[in-house]
Amino acid sequence: MRTEQFITIGNVRIAKTCGLSPMASVADRAYREICREFGASYLVSEMVSAKGLCYGGAGSLELCEVSDRERPYAIQLFGEEPEFMARAVEIVNRFKPDIIDINMGCPVAKVVNPGGGSALMKTPELAAELVRAAVSRADCPVTVKIRSGWNSEQINAVPFAEAMEQAGAAAIAVHPRTRDQLYSGRADWSVIEKVKKAVEIPVIGNGDITCGADAARMYSETGCDLVTLARASNGRPWVFEQIARFLETGEELPEPPLEERLKIMISHADRLIAYKGEDQGVREARKNVAWYLKGVRGAARFRNLSGTLSTRDDILRLAEEVLKGAE
Ligand SMILES: Cc1cc2nc3c(=O)[nH]c(=O)nc-3n(C[C@H](O)[C@H](O)[C@H](O)COP(=O)(O)O)c2cc1C
Repeated sequence: MRTEQFITIGNVRIAKTCGLSPMASVADRAYREICREFGASYLVSEMVSAKGLCYGGAGSLELCEVSDRERPYAIQLFGEEPEFMARAVEIVNRFKPDIIDINMGCPVAKVVNPGGGSALMKTPELAAELVRAAVSRADCPVTVKIRSGWNSEQINAVPFAEAMEQAGAAAIAVHPRTRDQLYSGRADWSVIEKVKKAVEIPVIGNGDITCGADAARMYSETGCDLVTLARASNGRPWVFEQIARFLETGEELPEPPLEERLKIMISHADRLIAYKGEDQGVREARKNVAWYLKGVRGAARFRNLSGTLSTRDDILRLAEEVLKGAE
């Protein structure tokens, strides 16, 4: 179908296959590394509070940690105060991300009530000020991730993206749902196409990509420069390999055999344990284990069991049981 292509954001080169869209409380370092192993061409941190960083919050600083295996990689910041954003960017510079992304799409109350995340789409002048503040201090390109708009009466992705470009954004990522839609309904890809036609900077599209054919269709229907996905990688990090293969050859790779999937699940848990210790690592692995076991025989029971895991041995025993159940 095509040979490997790249896009550049500022001076950052990214393979035009499929990247991982940010997921707070899900796409941590262990998760991102596994996705990279399967070829995710671009990775983004969980969102980090600009204010939290300025106040020296240990949790916020930890979210910025990045290994070289993750590059090209963005740290995503959220906030609504330009002064805090500027200071946060100076702190983030120390972690040497390839890109700093500003979250203008998050729908959750904690973020939008003070005016951040997707609420910024209602205040484009403030959003532009945030971008200018970030660009003035950043050692790397600054990008912005937006939604279609606040609600179906206020779809303003195009003028908003133009304003962010004017303010100095080096790329725009579009999740084409409104804030009111949260994650339900279908993503309206025509919004990505309209943004792409309106701006000169690269446009990253996402929303509802689950396989190679979806990714190819988003590239061809919207003309976007890069596609990324979030939820379809839950318990399926190999989706990035499947997409890259499809874009290259038109062939949809099958899901890996169960035994292989369980090995990947264990290696994912092992990374979490390595980063967080066994107690915390296994607790955080529970939701991932439940995702990896989706669709296996007896999935409902195994999903319940995954909620009770507390040691690495518990995970190994569960994997054995799943394999036996499939014989
Ligand atoms: C659990 C979860 C957490 C998310 N966290 C973030 C986030 O921190 N920053 C952000 O820009 N988008 C976040 N998103 C949105 C995704 O990056 C993506 O835009 C959206 O899920 C649509 O893509 P998908 O259909 O491939 O999941 C999150 C989505 C989910 C499901």
